[in-house]
Amino acid sequence: MSDTDRELRVSKIRNGTVIDHLAAGQALNVLALLGIDGSGGESVSVGMNVPSDKLAKKDIVKVEDRELSQSEVDVLAVIAPEATINIVREYDVVEKKRIDRPESVDGVLSCPNRNCITNDDEPIRTRFAVLDDALRCDYCGEIVREDEVATHLDVA
Ligand code: CTP
Ligand code: ZN
Repeated sequence: MSDTDRELRVSKIRNGTVIDHLAAGQALNVLALLGIDGSGGESVSVGMNVPSDKLAKKDIVKVEDRELSQSEVDVLAVIAPEATINIVREYDVVEKKRIDRPESVDGVLSCPNRNCITNDDEPIRTRFAVLDDALRCDYCGEIVREDEVATHLDVA
């Protein structure tokens, strides 16, 4: 078996987005963060703990027929700053998107403060300011540490 064959646990896609070099364990968090649960009908392939050159082990996510926007990519920066985003068209990687740290994360995290107005019955869209190693609720000031982000995903 060649090295390439050995690497290809998840087959190449024709069109869509490949989220590569995720830290092992982040694939499902990334899907949750992007609101991808299969209900949209897209084909999604997930590789977990796949051997990698750059990392000892990595996760990889391939979403077919969907090109992530820059704002979707930005939100990933909070939990996956090391990831590589590849846009694929007709089997070729046509673009590698940079991951920028966003200034805020809107509508994807729930506030852990039960008294926060965003946890009332009113439909208020959550909004967190992105700090150096944490996020801060715009409404109540509650801090969510970066390593806790995955456990507060609204969409999971
Ligand atoms: N890929 C895919 N389907 C395609 C083309 C690429 O699933 N039609 C995947 C590759 O398997 C790889 C990622 O997209 O995981 C990036 O592809 P490519 O840029 O060709 O690989 P590398 O040069 O190794 O990328 P990097 O430098 O980011 O490691
Ligand atoms: Zn709050």
